[in-house]
Amino acid sequence: MTRIINEIDKKIFLEEKCFIPTMGALHKGHLSLVKLGKQSTNGKTIVSIFVNKRQFNDESDYDNYPIDLDKDIELLRKEEVDYIFVPDENYIYPKDFVELDGMESGEKGSLFEGAHRPGHFDGVLTVVNRLFELVNPTSAVFGKKDAQQLYLVKEFFANKSNNLKIIEAEIIRDKYGLAMSSRNRLLSKSGINIARNIFQILKNTKEHFFQNQDIQQAEAFGKELFNENDIEYDYLNFVDPKYFETPDKNHEKLLLITAAYVEGIRLIDNMEVIQ
Ligand code: PAF
Repeated sequence: MTRIINEIDKKIFLEEKCFIPTMGALHKGHLSLVKLGKQSTNGKTIVSIFVNKRQFNDESDYDNYPIDLDKDIELLRKEEVDYIFVPDENYIYPKDFVELDGMESGEKGSLFEGAHRPGHFDGVLTVVNRLFELVNPTSAVFGKKDAQQLYLVKEFFANKSNNLKIIEAEIIRDKYGLAMSSRNRLLSKSGINIARNIFQILKNTKEHFFQNQDIQQAEAFGKELFNENDIEYDYLNFVDPKYFETPDKNHEKLLLITAAYVEGIRLIDNMEVIQ
């Protein structure tokens, strides 16, 4: 039986559990995180729904963020999660909430996504830290679509607490390659079709890299594809996922990351190039 809770009591705090933090407006991508969480634990599963204002650098983005709590609850009941944790703003950030030193995402949080959304990752790390503190999970699931978020969460939390296992979930796409995102529901039908080009641009850029082995050339090629498709973008970069920075000659793996705008909606995506 699924229980909807607003606070974590002592019993729940002490239980072994897998935690899936979300901001609601759930889609198949979230549900894949939930399924993975359920498979990977012998304990309980707890999904939080909390739209964290602190990670929105743009107020209108926060105001427009989709909310559909009833539908979310229906979906999570079907997945038979044990707890749906829907905290109030005051429970997460009480009046006496003390900003923790060291919750700044630093240089790694100021590149790529962070360069275009100042303060975003500080807000993410602050809320994740607070949620971990309240929920006390044994493991937690994060999606690979938010690649830089996943990198920072692993850097900040997996190393700090030996007991906490971070589980990584694959990107879920529609049959045309569009990565599932809560923001997709803000797009019109034609917007969805345009947004599907992002996947194709990532694929073609990756292909170009394999033909020429030149990162800068491939990035320039991909940016040109964005221009040809009339899609505005913030960045299109190859990164070394081990350090989440511009790759040097010694990189082993490569990840291609992007953020682009369709009908004014900001969408992020990425693709593994060398795994
Ligand atoms: O990935 C998200 O949905 C959010 O950044 C998270 C991890 C729930 C923190 O608000």
